[in-house]
Amino acid sequence: MKLTKKMQSALVIEENIQLLKCPICSAEMEMEEHARLVCENKHSFDLAKSGYVNLAPQAHSTKYDKSLFEARTAVMNSGYFEPVLENIIARLNGHLAEIERPVLLDAGCGEGTHLHVVHSQMPTGSVGVGIDLAKEGIVAASKAYTGIVWSVADLAAMPFADGSIDAILNILSPANYAEFDRLLKPGGMLIKVVPESGYLQELREVFYDGKQQKEEADPVAKASEHFDAVETERVTYEFELPNGLLEPLIRMTPLTWGASEEKVREALEMGMNYITIDLRVIVGVRR
Ligand SMILES: C[S@@+](CC[C@H](N)C(=O)[O-])C[C@H]1O[C@@H](n2cnc3c(N)ncnc32)[C@H](O)[C@@H]1O
Ligand SMILES: [Zn+2]
Repeated sequence: MKLTKKMQSALVIEENIQLLKCPICSAEMEMEEHARLVCENKHSFDLAKSGYVNLAPQAHSTKYDKSLFEARTAVMNSGYFEPVLENIIARLNGHLAEIERPVLLDAGCGEGTHLHVVHSQMPTGSVGVGIDLAKEGIVAASKAYTGIVWSVADLAAMPFADGSIDAILNILSPANYAEFDRLLKPGGMLIKVVPESGYLQELREVFYDGKQQKEEADPVAKASEHFDAVETERVTYEFELPNGLLEPLIRMTPLTWGASEEKVREALEMGMNYITIDLRVIVGVRR
């Protein structure tokens, strides 16, 4: 008999139960009846039918909704991010080669495709954990991909034990260095991906007349304050847009939030054959 998604996921979580801690009181957790996580103070968190668990202390509404994550999945499955993911996979497998059953956390995993792709290229037995505060992202991730621990959680207060993680991915998502420090084992690796000036410039030209948006304070300097051996690499390429991909691309990116439907229509009518991907991969090692 084929196991349900919830059961498959319960088994993966059970195998890795030592990673988890209660988001309310920080106590260790146990799995009850393959259906819920419970701590010794009786805080209890049900597994959803699709297998994810909500460990965010309170409900959050974010700007990331279901249609946005559907658009993101369509784009991510098109090969759009392939060169970046290959770069990440090579770095991770190099760094984690000696570690048995390494644990990889994607902090701000969205709809989960990147973590799924990276995890599928790691040695058998590697553990993948994906968290995001947007429930719709985690719902989509857990429906699409099994064999990974998916949880709604805040990356500013992650429900995992100190020193339990071998590598953290943080792709186009906010960082929380205090949490990354706490969770990584000494020698553990952080791989953060941030946009560079050319990222999606063709869309920027339509929606912002080419103007730069405000970026967060220098992410490389920030990472160097917390991590050793900080190395960065800029990954730039032109991605040829397959038919039908421009619309999901426009819908998925915060760049176009707030744009009028008229502007979106204008961009679609104009068409685009390719889009520039310009990202920086920042790699640090925990002291
Ligand atoms: C631009 S998306 C990137 C998603 C994914 N890494 C990708 O590259 O497709 C940014 C993500 O950060 C998540 N996020 C923002 N603040 C967060 C927080 N405090 N805790 C967890 N996730 C957060 C959002 O919900 C969103 O999914
Ligand atoms: Zn508790």
